[in-house]
Amino acid sequence: MTLYPLDIRLRTIRENMMSNFGENSTASEVLASKDLSGKTIFITGGNSGLGMESGRAMAAQGAHVVLAGRDQGKLDDAVSSIKNENPDAQIETIICDLGSLESVQSCGKEASQRLGKIDVLLNNAGVMACPHSKTADGFEMQFGTNHVGHFLLTKQLMPLIEKGQDKRIVNLSSRGHHITPVNLDDPNFENREYNEWASYGQSKTANILFTVGLENRFADKGIHAYAVHPGGIQTNLGRHMSEEEEAALVARVTENDPDFSWKTIPQGAATQCWAATAAELEGKGGVYCEDCHVAEVDDTSPNSGVRSYALDQASADRLWSMSEEMVGESFSA
Ligand SMILES: NC(=O)c1ccc[n+]([C@@H]2O[C@H](COP(=O)([O-])OP(=O)(O)OC[C@H]3O[C@@H](n4cnc5c(N)ncnc54)[C@H](OP(=O)(O)O)[C@@H]3O)[C@@H](O)[C@H]2O)c1
Repeated sequence: MTLYPLDIRLRTIRENMMSNFGENSTASEVLASKDLSGKTIFITGGNSGLGMESGRAMAAQGAHVVLAGRDQGKLDDAVSSIKNENPDAQIETIICDLGSLESVQSCGKEASQRLGKIDVLLNNAGVMACPHSKTADGFEMQFGTNHVGHFLLTKQLMPLIEKGQDKRIVNLSSRGHHITPVNLDDPNFENREYNEWASYGQSKTANILFTVGLENRFADKGIHAYAVHPGGIQTNLGRHMSEEEEAALVARVTENDPDFSWKTIPQGAATQCWAATAAELEGKGGVYCEDCHVAEVDDTSPNSGVRSYALDQASADRLWSMSEEMVGESFSA
């Protein structure tokens, strides 16, 4: 097992002793003691699965929730579902297709006109194991959506985050990052055969490296970033897998982790809600969280921890420069 430097390791142990929550906690339980009135929470992928559940649970605690998505009909359905349960929910929607830099730019402009600030940005949207395809700007679909789109969106929203009180950015990663580091020489699979799992894995490693890059550049401004693995949850994320492929995936996971069971959606949304609000994480970003605690660095365990390559500073810097080139904009503090 590889370890964080001693100071971060001691900090991790102390924080984990302080966390009252674990793998079975739900988003509502994590937020139960939080008064989120006056907070603006911006959630990508807010129309489905973990994003929608996070929005529901945060609105229940009084937050002003902005659900971002690429389909207005799906966003409207999500709002109706949340408002059916909680008619007082303060909730609005905004169009953002992360697979189009133009759409992300327009979303940023519209958000700056409509919102006075953002307290928490939840970069939650994602696509998994899709057949080979490209975004509108020619990036491989999973790298382009899961990383590049969120990189530009975060840049666009940064002036609003600077005006927020909480100043947190939560990036949904995955244990899928164990599959592989980012191939920084060929992130778009131009010179190698496409593999849908290598693509998902590198995009989820990129989410952690982006978290490290954000922390390095923005911590001095009081802005902190957290990466999250939510657990295994049956959502629309599996839409590109056949039943046989899903069964094979579960068999592989169970081989490494005989105690594996799916989390419910409310349990799956817990860790991102914890990372967005936990007092014990205040000022301590650049970490990867799972089951409502900060994970240890571990280069061998198949069923827990964060790989050291995902926290590597040099890789984080290379990815940052490459992403700036891809979106055609510099992004600095
Ligand atoms: N579920 C799990 O077991 C699991 C495990 C590890 C990590 N995660 C991560 O958790 C996050 C949430 O996933 P989920 O399980 O809640 O899946 P989900 O129900 O499929 O939700 C994914 C969301 O991302 C949105 N999205 C996909 N492509 C987009 C694009 N081009 N532009 C804008 N939005 C886009 C989807 O919108 P549409 O409805 O329009 O497609 C949907 O709202 C993902 O980042 C995923 O990688 C999930």
